[in-house]
This record gives sequence, structure tokens and C-alpha cells, in this order.
Amino acid sequence: MIDKQILNNITVLYAEDESIIQEGITETLSLFGIDVICAQNGQDALSIFKSSPHKIDLILTDVKMPKLDGLGMIEKIREIDKEIPIIITSAHQETTFLMQSIELNISAYVLKPIDIYKLQESLLKAVESKVLKEKLIEKNEKLEIEIQKNEEKQQIIENQSRFAAMGEMIGMIAHQWRQPLSSIGTASYNLKYKLASGKYDLETKEGREEQKSFFSTKLDEIEFYVQSLTTTIDDFRNFFKTDKVFVNTTIENPINNTLKMVQKDLEGNNIGLIVNLNSKNKIDIYENEIVHVLINILKNAQDKHLEKKTQDAKIEIKTQDLDNGIKIEIYDNGGGIEEEYIDKIFEPYFSTKEEKNGTGIGLYMSKIIIENHHDGKLFATNTKDGIFFSIILHTVI
Ligand SMILES: Nc1ncnc2c1ncn2[C@@H]1O[C@H](COP(=O)(O)OP(=O)(O)O)[C@@H](O)[C@H]1O
Ligand SMILES: [Mg+2]
Repeated sequence: MIDKQILNNITVLYAEDESIIQEGITETLSLFGIDVICAQNGQDALSIFKSSPHKIDLILTDVKMPKLDGLGMIEKIREIDKEIPIIITSAHQETTFLMQSIELNISAYVLKPIDIYKLQESLLKAVESKVLKEKLIEKNEKLEIEIQKNEEKQQIIENQSRFAAMGEMIGMIAHQWRQPLSSIGTASYNLKYKLASGKYDLETKEGREEQKSFFSTKLDEIEFYVQSLTTTIDDFRNFFKTDKVFVNTTIENPINNTLKMVQKDLEGNNIGLIVNLNSKNKIDIYENEIVHVLINILKNAQDKHLEKKTQDAKIEIKTQDLDNGIKIEIYDNGGGIEEEYIDKIFEPYFSTKEEKNGTGIGLYMSKIIIENHHDGKLFATNTKDGIFFSIILHTVI
């Protein structure tokens, strides 16, 4: 069944020279909700059509009319518009009309005197595909606008997420640098002190050897610590490269790279890290993105431990092979989250860290990275003493 509503608000151009018939039919068409534009002959109808071809959805026309008859008018209209539905009304049931009608792509032929139900049926059939097509185009346009808006929103969130990650990175670099910087400070202070105090007797060979050995040990130390500063910067800089290529690797690589960055911070906060890597399968991943996810999860666990001041604070990372992929599990004993919020933690901007300026995009981005970029799965469950994250990645995407 075709929905009669589709006749509502369509515009019909109606050519008919007998005014009594035209008035009666126009009235009926108006009852169907149709807007009717009347023309008294073919010539009239043609010029109305030419002046507003986009407004008219269908043409209803008599055949025998003065000035220009129905078929003559249709021929001219077909030169402009090959698609517009056309219905002919006529008292003449002649086959010549019929042949010509087929050539002119006429939708229907309604005999006079006009049976209203037949006319309605013909109108519905004729206009259905046009109206549906237009509705579809309109819906598509709306959908495209929605999609574009969503893409823009997504882009904003991704940028925010990079900024948030950068902020966290700076914190981690500061931690990582604290110890080597202070060691360099101590070593250079010692060197200066030994020089100033004239501790070595440079008159003797022994004194000179002693000074040389002391200096070279301290300089080696400084070199070692400078190397460690450089490595830290390299680790972090690699993370910020946006190399959008898949690498085929085991999950150990990104995990080790992550640990290089967060380990010092965790140690500094007395959080024990238990690592159990048992996965050998190779997977295709955007390595930096996976590191990003792991950092998000580990930093969240660390935040929770610091907030709760957990005794015997722990974070455990386990990996294992699956039939066609790998699984990473990350547990902490920081107390977890209220059960009512557990489903919300992946929503954008959900954060319980008001005083710490939480952004609430870390886990949202993590889910996008795992599930949209890698076609994997990321989910979280509360355990008795904390939260447990599980990541599944497939060998072949
Ligand atoms: N390990 C965890 N333990 C308890 N709550 C957590 C843990 N990880 C995440 N959450 C909760 O999920 C929320 C969202 O995390 P996230 O998206 O990283 O945003 P943010 O860290 O900026 O708050 C956090 O505010 C916190 O309430
Ligand atoms: Mg976070």
C-alpha cells in the first residue's frame, strides 16, 4: 500500500479547457492536500511550467484543448524535463494516443468521466518514486551534515586528547629527569669542590693520577646521565610522531615503550608494577596509539592510588595469546569506581577528578583507538579491590 500522505503538499499543474470539469477535479485534488495550478489550454500550461519547473511535481492534462493540445504540450515539456510524472485525462480511448503516450513516458491514462478513486490511485503511483527520491535526498543531506558535525567534534576531541597526553608526558618527563639531573649536579659540584680545595698534590705523579681517575669517573657519570636524559626525550618524542602506518609486531614492544615512560613515575609514588608478558603472536597496530592507550590506563590507575593513598598499591599487566589475536589485562587495587559509573567511564568528558582537572577523554579516546582504529575490544569491570581493563586485538584486522 502506498501512503496517501505523500500527496500532501505536492503541486500539480492541471491543464483542462472545460471549466466545469476543472473546477470539480481541482476541488477533489485539494481534498487530497494537493496544491493545484490551473491552465486553460496547452499553451498556458507550457508557459506556467517554463516559468517555474522546479515547483511542479506532476502534470495532469486533458488531450483535446485549443491553441496547443495535450500531447503537443507534453512533447515540449519533455524537451525540458524527461522525468516529471504526467497523467492524461481524456474521453477518447484511441490507440494512437496510447502509442504516443508510451513514447512520451506518460505515467497513467485516466478516462473521462473521471473516477476519483482511479485518479487518486494513478496520482499516488505516478508521484511515489519522485517524492520518495526527494525525501531520500533530503534525508541524505541532513545525514551528511550530521556526519560532518560528528567528524568535526571527533577531531576536536582528538586534539584535546593529544594536549592532555602532552600535559601528562611533561609530568612524566619531569619525574624521569629529576634523578639524572640531580646526579649531574652532584658530580659537577664534586669536581668543582675537588678543584677548589686543591685536594690532589699535582707535584707528584701519584697525585696527578688520582686526580685524573677521579675526574674521568665523574665525567663518565655525567655522560651516562646525559645519555639517559637524551633517551628519555627520544622515547617521548617517538610517541608524538603521528606515523599512520600499521606495524606488524608483538604487543611486548609497545608495552615496553610505555613502561619506559611511566616506570619512574610509578616507582616515585611507591606503586608496585607486576609485569607478566606471555604473548608471542604478531599483530598489526599503530604502535604509538597503543602506547597512548596503555599510558591512559596506567595513569588512571596511578591517579586512583594517589587519591586513595592505597596501602600496598599495585598495578599488574598480563598478556596472553588468543587463537587469532592477543589479550592484555591490566588490574589495579586502587578501589575501583562506584558500580553506577562503570558504564560511563568511556563516555567523552566523564571524569571524577574535578580537583585534579580531569579531562574525561583519556578512556574515550582509548576506546576509539582500540575499537575503531584496530577493530578490537576494550572493556572494564570492577573487581573486589580495584578495576580491571581488558584489551583484545586481532592478528588480522
Ligand atoms: N583505574 C581506575 N580506577 C578507578 N576509576 C577509574 C580508573 N580508571 C578510570 N577511572 C574513572 O574513569 C574516569 C574517566 O577516565 P579518563 O577518561 O581517563 O578521564 P580523566 O582521567 O581525565 O578523569 C576517571 O575520572 C575515573 O573516575
Ligand atoms: Mg585519564
